Amino acid sequence: MHKNFYITTPIYYPSARPHMGHAYSSIIADFFARFKRIDGFKVNFLTGTDEHGLKIQRAAEQKGLDPLKFCDEISQTFRDLSKTLNLTNNDFIRTTELRHINSVQYLWNELEKSNDIYLSKYSGWYSISDEAFYSDDEVENFDGKKRSINSKSFVEWVDEESYFFRLSKWEKPLLKYYADNPDFISPPSRKNEVISFVKGGLKDLSISRKSFTWGIKVPKDKDHIIYVWLDALTNYISALNYPDLNDSLFKNFWPASIHLIGKDILRFHAIYWPAFLLAAKIPPPKKIYGHGWILSGEEKMSKSKGNILDPIEIIDKYGIDPLRYYLIKEVSFGNDGNISQERLEDCINSDLANNFGNLCQRVTTFTLNNCNGTIPKEIKFEKDDLKILNKFKDNLNIIRQKIDNQDINFYIDYIVNSLFEANKYFNDQEPWKKKDDLVRLNTIVYATLEIVRKISILLYPIIPESSLKALKIFQLQEKDVNLSSIVNNDFLLKVDKINKIDILFQKIKKNND
Ligand code: MSP
Repeated sequence: MHKNFYITTPIYYPSARPHMGHAYSSIIADFFARFKRIDGFKVNFLTGTDEHGLKIQRAAEQKGLDPLKFCDEISQTFRDLSKTLNLTNNDFIRTTELRHINSVQYLWNELEKSNDIYLSKYSGWYSISDEAFYSDDEVENFDGKKRSINSKSFVEWVDEESYFFRLSKWEKPLLKYYADNPDFISPPSRKNEVISFVKGGLKDLSISRKSFTWGIKVPKDKDHIIYVWLDALTNYISALNYPDLNDSLFKNFWPASIHLIGKDILRFHAIYWPAFLLAAKIPPPKKIYGHGWILSGEEKMSKSKGNILDPIEIIDKYGIDPLRYYLIKEVSFGNDGNISQERLEDCINSDLANNFGNLCQRVTTFTLNNCNGTIPKEIKFEKDDLKILNKFKDNLNIIRQKIDNQDINFYIDYIVNSLFEANKYFNDQEPWKKKDDLVRLNTIVYATLEIVRKISILLYPIIPESSLKALKIFQLQEKDVNLSSIVNNDFLLKVDKINKIDILFQKIKKNND
């Protein structure tokens, strides 16, 4: 039987073209999806675009476009970006699709049935940029206007008839859910902020708007459109064919293993979403992980701040794998991280070209020149060889546990250290001085090739293209990439010849070189 794993990214607003923050969420989700897949899990990986609401309607108006036409264009750029980032998502959902609209309306009816919805009037602040309602104590004066204290985005006053969700009723059940599922909100540092917000008292939530039209209609009251967050959050189940609870996608993949999101949208995911689900008698997801922001200087990278590093430009210049590696390594996962081209170049030169690329080149060239390009079979492991080889076997379960706790920092440090050790092993063992002792020479070559194979497999979730290029040394293809094979020290005994491969990473010439 397969073990199942369901991971999602936030669905992105197509109000502007994708930037590095979006690329970051998606790359991290792809990292987990790939890791789980090579570890034998059946993976469902979902991304998409969040296309309704006032923010999109206004952005379309500014361009003089019909909102759907506007969304068609930008949603396509997100779809294209998924390809460019080499994501392995198996679905891409748009909230303007019929399958989604049907699910949202069905969920609305369920909430009505459970008596969680009533009609009243909303008077309060609304931020279009955040698509969020704020109370008086959550806004401040700025430049003669009002803005959210937290997100700094401007708010406007709203006074209109609205349907409400009885969020207040779910205060205690939510607190119980957090207590019973201590990993639900991750990383742990973000948990307290949510719990104290809920403990502070939950007000009922306005879940419909009347003053604009771009959204999904409330089923029995077409003057109202459904609040964009209730609409958007439902994507995670509409993509599994909700409300068909017997559909194999829903049965196999719900509750989701992890919703990966940025920390700014934690409240929606950790409070509203489980409350909606509990009200509809659907189990909440297993985990919400709120990652940090990609900063440019000290600020969040965003369109409104005009400080965007364009992922496409970076990929055109350096390639996708260096960007993936850099974001995964340099931004300590869970925290904010500053990125710069300068540091990206350092990372390419030191880790990718020197540490990994060089090791692959050295050992393959040596094998071609000294072993006739054949993987040596007459070998006899000694203590030094087994010490470095067996580490992978000894650590595999730790690696799995760390990944289940989203400890990407451990994972990448493990790989970097393994690369250092492998280079050191090859240098210290000096196979070029062992021409009189062929068994020893063969053993060192074999062990180093084995280590290259194991590390290439570990690198696959991070830099899939380069990992597969390296695995071509052994004629291995994507379908052969299997995490548990890193425990096997005899794997290469089945492989005959090695292939010579091209240089994996070109070093970047820096001004001071
Ligand atoms: N549409 C909502 C999400 C709905 S999910 C049901 C949304 N969209 S967004 O396009 O504004 O943001 C999508 C994600 O990108 C969020 O998780 C947000 O945190 C993330 N990022 C946007 N800018 C970012 C950075 N500069 N750095 C890292 N991630 C940030 O919110």
